[in-house]
Parts: sequence; C-alpha cells; structure tokens
Amino acid sequence: MAEPLNRQDMAKQAAADAAAAIVENGMLVGLGSGTTLRRFVRSLGKRCEAGLTITGVPTSESTRALAIEVGVPVADLNDVGELDLVLDGADEIDPQGQMIKGGGGNLLWEKIVATAGARFVAVIDDSKTKDVLGKFPLPVEVVRFGWRATERLIRGLLVESGYLEPAITMRGGLDSPFVTDSGHYILDCALGEITHPDALAIALNRIPGVVENGLFIDIARSAIVGQPDGSIRTIAYD
Ligand code: 5RP
Repeated sequence: MAEPLNRQDMAKQAAADAAAAIVENGMLVGLGSGTTLRRFVRSLGKRCEAGLTITGVPTSESTRALAIEVGVPVADLNDVGELDLVLDGADEIDPQGQMIKGGGGNLLWEKIVATAGARFVAVIDDSKTKDVLGKFPLPVEVVRFGWRATERLIRGLLVESGYLEPAITMRGGLDSPFVTDSGHYILDCALGEITHPDALAIALNRIPGVVENGLFIDIARSAIVGQPDGSIRTIAYD
C-alpha cells in the first residue's frame, strides 16, 4: 500500500500536477530532476496516456528512465532544437528568481537543459522560497582529477569573497564519493548567506577543475509553488 503523503509531499504533488497541466500539445519539454520532478513526470505520463503528444528532454539518467517507464517520449538534447519549456525543481529560490540547484546531483545537465529552453518554470514546494540564498549548501561539480587542488582554489575564492571558514564537503563522503552522470564529484559549500550570487557564479566557473556550480542566475521566468493544503501559487520574475 502507498505511504500517506506528508505535508511537503502534498505541496510537491500540487506543484507537479499544476506544472503538468501547463504542458501543451507538440511541445519540446525539458524534464528536470529530483523528487518533485519525479512526481511531475508521472503526472505528465498520465497526460500522455490520455493523448498528449510531446517530446521530453531529460536532465538525468534517472529522469530518462522514469519518463520511459511512464510513457513520456524522450529525445536527446543533441537531436532537438530550442526547447519550448523547461520544468525543474530547486533547492532554494529567492524573490528575484535566482536559484540554488543540484541537491540531487544533476546540476550540470540541468543547467545545460535550462539554458537550452525558451522558458524555465521552477516547480517547487513552499519550503524552497527564501529571502536570501545560501542556507542550502551550494553544490559545485568538479573534475575528479586533482579535485583537492580545485577545492583549495574554491576555498580561497570563498574566503576572498568574505565567506569566513567555509565548510566544504565531498558529496557522499570521502570513502564513497557521489559520482554525477558525467563522472564528476560534487563539493557542497556551506556559506550561510550568499550576498552576490551572480558574481560568485561567474568566479566559481573560472576555477580550473570546476565544471559547473549550482547557482542558476537569471534563468527562472516563473515558479509554481505548491502548498501543503494542495493549492498552488505562481510567481513571475522580471
Ligand atoms: C537536482 C535538483 C533538484 O531540482 C532539487 O534538488 C530539488 O529537488 P526536490 O524536488 O527533491 O526537492 O536540483 O539536482
């Protein structure tokens, strides 16, 4: 028997169902990753079963597998043009629509798909809206070769940027590090409050060995925010 949904699950489901409802026939749709987006993909699968014709471009191997399982047709990003719509979750989103993503370890593919789309809609439960980004540790995807040297450079940048003694941890732990779909490691940087996310995102990506960081700047056009009572609200970003 299925487990009863807790309040956050109810909020995620509400956002996921509302997101599935905005997908239109014929669209090329970026399919995000994470628990909220898994609910969305299942919801979209039901719409496809009922006759909706779309093509999905997944942001992770796990989303690809789920989409195929529930009957959402998928294509490789290399085989399609600009996506009409990208739907994805977020770990945090601020009032300007700037986000931290990568809690599920998919930030690189997620950012590539997000920026390949004409419109990005964040699909989130209400715990993800924040006044300031940074309580959620910022994921930074790094190449495995020389990752300790890359970590030192990241630490140096963070200290120089005013984050005193930032805690940087290897996702999954040193004994069995998490490896992304592209074969990289993730370093999670606990920063507390990110004061200038745009500048930090650019500076991090200049460090040799950094593949991508979890700051998604000027990408979200709107958000569908699910509430625990099953209702949703939408937020538009300029
Ligand atoms: C995965 C992500 C997810 O979108 C983010 O972690 C939100 O996940 P969830 O819906 O499980 O809260 O960025 O890399």
